[in-house]
Amino acid sequence: MRIITSAAAMQKLALQWKRTGVKIGFVPTMGYLHAGHLSLVKRARQAVGKNGKVVVSIYVNPTQFAPTEDLSKYPRDLKRDLKLCREAGADAVFTPGDAEMYPGKTEGNYSTYVIEENLGCVMEGASRPMHFRGVTTVVAKLFNLVLPDVSVFGQKDFQQAAIIQRMVKDLNFPLKIVVAPTLRERDGLAMSSRNKYLAGDLRRQATVLWCAIQIAKSIVEKSKSVSAADLKVDLKKLIEIEPDAKLDYVEFFNPETLQPVAQVKRGTQMALAVFVGKTRLIDNSQL
Ligand code: PAF
Repeated sequence: MRIITSAAAMQKLALQWKRTGVKIGFVPTMGYLHAGHLSLVKRARQAVGKNGKVVVSIYVNPTQFAPTEDLSKYPRDLKRDLKLCREAGADAVFTPGDAEMYPGKTEGNYSTYVIEENLGCVMEGASRPMHFRGVTTVVAKLFNLVLPDVSVFGQKDFQQAAIIQRMVKDLNFPLKIVVAPTLRERDGLAMSSRNKYLAGDLRRQATVLWCAIQIAKSIVEKSKSVSAADLKVDLKKLIEIEPDAKLDYVEFFNPETLQPVAQVKRGTQMALAVFVGKTRLIDNSQL
């Protein structure tokens, strides 16, 4: 497995592969890998076959963090990540530093960003302004360096996947996006690098996101159509029974357009963000 830290070297290798007709599968990550990420690597391998090449990027992208969000505390363990990538059968890991990804930024000489102007305005985009600008920018840059035929994203970041799909279509990136299912712990908690922060009872309380989804599902199964506003009030109460849980948002929306719906039915998408202690967790599901 190759470990590449330079943007130029990554692009050169990808161009070499391309010239010989090798298919490239790509999984962008911020590291601190878990089984969910490894399932994306497997999916990328499936897409490009044994003669293809699978690239994993590990880069904690500063432009998608707000100054109030503690970028420096984001969990990192590169040695372990590299071992996991090797075991998962990746051909290359691209792990650039900030100077490679945003050359000239500290001197004020970096000024180009990619902005999706519609799907990113609600939910995560409303709670974390500038977040998706950072995501689309870094993903566009990574696509230009890794030149993938297929790139795999997790369904756990539902809105992110929708925005990336829109960006690929709008900006004519010549690649296919695959969205792979969320992996969960036994008690339903969606796998996330941030789960590492959930010490002691917070880990138990974190299952409240999955509980809220299950309850919404059962309500929708029983009655054909429910008012989104009423359901939001009920779920907020349910979530905040947990002493350290605070609802950021719960939204019900059309999975294609991400537009909120007034009436929740089968097939409506639900997404929520909850602070459990200081850790902000997200989850989503189709109802
Ligand atoms: O989902 C993530 O881990 C990040 O948002 C991504 C896609 C790697 C971009 O930094």
